[in-house]
Amino acid sequence: MAKLKAAILISGRGSNMQALVNASKTDGFPAEIVLVLSNNADAAGLQFAAENNIPTAIVNHRDYDNREAFDGRLNDVISQSGARLICLAGFMRLLTPGFVNQWRDRIINIHPSLLPAFKGLHVHERAIETGVKFTGCTVHFIRPEMDDGPIIAQAAVPVLSNDDADILAARILEQEHLIYPLALKLIGEGRVKVHGSKVQISDAIESNNSVISPLG
Ligand code: GRF
Repeated sequence: MAKLKAAILISGRGSNMQALVNASKTDGFPAEIVLVLSNNADAAGLQFAAENNIPTAIVNHRDYDNREAFDGRLNDVISQSGARLICLAGFMRLLTPGFVNQWRDRIINIHPSLLPAFKGLHVHERAIETGVKFTGCTVHFIRPEMDDGPIIAQAAVPVLSNDDADILAARILEQEHLIYPLALKLIGEGRVKVHGSKVQISDAIESNNSVISPLG
């Protein structure tokens, strides 16, 4: 079966992009990365992509008069790459409803919380401040509203009493690097279907084990 062609959009470090690229190189992976695009010319992740022979592009939002013009250029560059799926990986621009609807159910994002909790920024600080015992990360299809849309995969991690935002972020990031490739694999295998506001995954392996914090 032909591989699903995916573009990854980044703004900075690009560690999730690296996880997707590395997964895409493993035997039998059903997706290939055909483009890494950044809105920042100095995004650290661009070098990794280039070293891995993945075409890169820079579309600097500061060069465009408005969001529609910026998104129009994004659409052109992504379409020209042949990508059929867009993976947002730390891409720090809000996309216009026009763009999101044009690519409906073909744009996925990773967010470092258990959505719908803690949308937006400073999620780790807010999780610690709120006193939740678990947080985590979510891969979801995007909708025009920020950090909204059908959930494909989540991983939960405990919030420990001595955590600061950096420690918690690192614990979550490890899981991000597992669930983002997993979500891409499931989509590439054609096992992910959107029904209304939910995702259904065929032949999914599920577990009904509970995880409790604190113990004792
Ligand atoms: C990740 O925590 C991701 O969940 C969020 O932005 C961060 C990007 O990190 N959307 P990286 O650029 O993938 O390393």
